[in-house]
Amino acid sequence: MTEKKTPTAYEIHPLIKERWSPRAFAETPITETEIKTLLEAGRWAASSNNLQPWRIIWGLKGTTTYDRIFECLVAFNQSWAKGAPALLLGAFKKDMNDGEKENFHALHDLGLFMGNVSIQATSMDIAIHQMAGIDFKKAGKEFGFPDNYHVATAIAIGRYGGNLDTLPEDLQRQEVKVTRERKEQEAFAFNGNFKK
Ligand SMILES: Cc1cc2nc3c(=O)[nH]c(=O)nc-3n(C[C@H](O)[C@H](O)[C@H](O)COP(=O)(O)O)c2cc1C
Repeated sequence: MTEKKTPTAYEIHPLIKERWSPRAFAETPITETEIKTLLEAGRWAASSNNLQPWRIIWGLKGTTTYDRIFECLVAFNQSWAKGAPALLLGAFKKDMNDGEKENFHALHDLGLFMGNVSIQATSMDIAIHQMAGIDFKKAGKEFGFPDNYHVATAIAIGRYGGNLDTLPEDLQRQEVKVTRERKEQEAFAFNGNFKK
């Protein structure tokens, strides 16, 4: 499914190893059932107090909702995401159910939701590319979110195997870079005190 190399230090599940974030997507449309299947995987993520603070806006290419999400992306992300068969916004509710206390784990839980979506997508040969580069204020207003919600990300969804010619040149080079890179475990995991 992918021509990328993922040099893992230990053997991990192929669905985790094979996932990567493309910027060129095949033209094959994504169906409403596929989107709802991905969201179902997200729905069953763990969350602090089972508050499920995630909120998702989704649109398929060719619809007004898709165009409205697209208009919330920064120019850089618009330069490649215009070919994506589906676009989502990922938002979270910032406070607890009673509206009195901040939910400090809401962004964490949106991340868990998206982790489930990512792995479910890989199992369906679907690719996702998440984006922080959005105008979050514009997105919140455009889709009618109250002030106690924050639109954190946009997500492009499609299938691997897109035509590289659809991308700006610098992004074409990044797309074909073969080996994926990560910090070594020693840089972020400590069996004892924190180390810089
Ligand atoms: C929360 C989040 C925000 C991101 N924002 C952007 C973005 O605005 N534009 C972009 O091109 N890629 C974005 N990415 C993609 C990352 O750059 C990518 O996941 C990272 O380089 C690792 O590559 P991989 O997903 O292919 O393993 C984002 C990823 C995440 C999880």
